[in-house]
Amino acid sequence: LWTPARIIDDQVDRVRELVGKRKVLLALSGGVDSSVVAALLHKAIGDQLTCVFVDNGLLRKNEGDQVMKTFADNMGVKVIRVDAEDLFLGKLAGITDPEAKRKIIGNSFIDIFDEEAAKLTEVEFLAQGTIYPDVVESADTKTGKAHVIKSHHNVGGLPETMKLKLVEPLRELFKDEVRKIGLELGLPHSMVYRHPFPGPGLGVRILGEVKKEYADILREADAIFMEELRNSGWYDKTSQAFAVFLPVKSVGVVGDARRYEWVVALRAVETIDFMTARWAHLPYELLEKVSNRIINEISGISRVTYDVSSKPPATIEWE
Ligand code: XMP
Repeated sequence: LWTPARIIDDQVDRVRELVGKRKVLLALSGGVDSSVVAALLHKAIGDQLTCVFVDNGLLRKNEGDQVMKTFADNMGVKVIRVDAEDLFLGKLAGITDPEAKRKIIGNSFIDIFDEEAAKLTEVEFLAQGTIYPDVVESADTKTGKAHVIKSHHNVGGLPETMKLKLVEPLRELFKDEVRKIGLELGLPHSMVYRHPFPGPGLGVRILGEVKKEYADILREADAIFMEELRNSGWYDKTSQAFAVFLPVKSVGVVGDARRYEWVVALRAVETIDFMTARWAHLPYELLEKVSNRIINEISGISRVTYDVSSKPPATIEWE
C-alpha cells in the first residue's frame, strides 16, 4: 500500500545503503522538490548532507531567510548560504535579451555551486530533486543528461570534472506524492504547496535589463499580491501567480503634482500542465485591494495592470 510514511522509510533505507558513510551535496533552491530531497536526506544521513543555497538577488521577498529558518534553524540541516547578489547583478548589467539573461543566471549559478563544492572535502554524491515527469521528459527529448540541476533545468549541467554520483530519491514519484512526503517529513504546508518559481527568478520578471532598484520594487509588489491571494483563499485556487516589473513610466497624481513612476503587471493563471493556461478570473474586489496597496505602499509604482492573456498564444511568464 502506498503511504507517504512507507515511501519515506523505503527511500531512507535505499539512500543509506547507497551512500554509506560518504558525503552528499545538494543545491537547495527552496522549491518543492529540492526541499523535499533535503528533508528526506537529512532524515536518512543527517550531517553527511551539505546543502548549498545561492541567493542570486533575484529571489522573492524574505525567501533566503525563510529557507535558512526552515532547514538550518528548525531542522538542523547543514546549509551553506551564498550571498551572490552583487555577482549576478553585475553580470546582468546591460543585458536585455531574455535568453542571454537566462544563460548568465544559469552559468553563474553553476560557477558558484562548483566553487562551493570544491571547498568541501570528500563529497562523492550529488543529490537532485528529479521527479518522475522530469525523467519521462528527458527520455522523450534525449536532452536529459544525468547531471542537470533540476531547478535550473535551462542550464546545461555541472562541469564533467565534478564526477559526482547521483542520488535522486524522488525519481519514481509524481508531484502530488512528493508533496505528501514533504508534509510527512514536517515541511510547512506553505512550502510544500508553493507555486512553481522559475530558476532565473525575478530575472525574467523584470523585463529587459535587470537592476537592483527594479528587483527591490518588484519583490515588494509581489509580496503584497501573494499576501492578498493567501488571505482571500485564492492562492490555492491558482496554479501560478506573480508580479512583473515593466520598465516604463506612467503618470500618477500625488497632491497637485504629476509624477511619472514605474508600472507593474499582475499575472495569475489556472493550469494543469503549464502547457496551456487560462488567466485566473480573480474577483475585482481582490484586484482592487492589491492595486491600492501596491500603489499606496510602494513608492516608485504609479500603475498596476492585470494580465488577461491565456496560453497559448501568450506564455505564463512575460519573457
Ligand atoms: P511559460 O512562460 O513558458 O512557462 O509559459 C511555463 C512554466 O515554466 C516556468 N519557466 C521556467 N522555469 N526556468 C525555469 O526553471 C526558466 O527559464 C523558465 N521559464 C519559464 C514558468 O514559471 C511556468 O511555470
